[in-house]
Amino acid sequence: MSSPSPEDITGHLILVTGAGSGIGRAIASLLLTRGAVVAACDKNLEALDEFKAQSQSPNLHIYGIDFLSEESINDCVKKVENDLGGIHGGINCVGILGENGSKAEDVDIANFDLVYQINLRGALIFTKALLKGMSDRGYGRILHLASISGKDGNPLLVSYSATKAGLIGMVKSIGKEYATSGVTVNAMAPALIETPILEGFSDSTLAFLKSKIPMNRFGTVSEVALLAAWIISPACSFTTGFTFDLSGGRAVY
Ligand SMILES: NC(=O)c1ccc[n+]([C@@H]2O[C@H](COP(=O)([O-])OP(=O)(O)OC[C@H]3O[C@@H](n4cnc5c(N)ncnc54)[C@H](O)[C@@H]3O)[C@@H](O)[C@H]2O)c1
Repeated sequence: MSSPSPEDITGHLILVTGAGSGIGRAIASLLLTRGAVVAACDKNLEALDEFKAQSQSPNLHIYGIDFLSEESINDCVKKVENDLGGIHGGINCVGILGENGSKAEDVDIANFDLVYQINLRGALIFTKALLKGMSDRGYGRILHLASISGKDGNPLLVSYSATKAGLIGMVKSIGKEYATSGVTVNAMAPALIETPILEGFSDSTLAFLKSKIPMNRFGTVSEVALLAAWIISPACSFTTGFTFDLSGGRAVY
């Protein structure tokens, strides 16, 4: 019998947060078609129920999680492990845009705190919850959805850009720290991808952001999912602490 391809994730248990919508849901759906067991987590339980009903896959398991609560994140990871076993991969697609369109001098600090808590603090708590089990088992793949805003900065989007830059720094630090453990920690930095999150942008901001993309189009969730499925597989074995670009040529670094 031939040995499995390094991209094979059949039977791998992958926890996907933010799986109720957009990028997270597209990644979870692709992983199911590749034979993975998926723990789809989100605070939007209605969206998860609808995903389960639509998918009908016995390998799809749904869980509530709230990134504003440390206890909720830890409980969710523990519950998935108790129900389904050791987690091979964790993909974090929770994120909010928060306020946009305000100049930095007018930015609402309460809104910054909310964006920070969900986009960065929650991401660290989630990573913490996965690391011990994965490093004890000597294998793991962790992937965060950062953004081009974190790499390049976007005007009138300071809270989102700052938290996504923080996520990139977090991944660099933890990736190096766990480099010999068998656990990789990476991020992706997409430019605009067509999902419901875009409803938070004004038309003029959307037009501005599109104009910055040399391919002159938004990305698709399927393009994000295909790259994520590779990063989360055993094939992606010599890259950690890295932020993969997915920006139609906007950021070539
Ligand atoms: N769509 C884009 O253009 C784009 C570009 C770059 C990066 N990203 C990032 O990709 C990720 C996914 O974005 P998307 O476009 O699919 O957005 P989306 O709004 O479609 O999905 C985000 C999901 O996160 C969930 N969520 C929000 N707050 C939560 C909380 N407190 N606890 C748990 N779940 C919560 C929502 O219920 C939703 O299902 C985000 O981190 C986003 O910043 C998106």
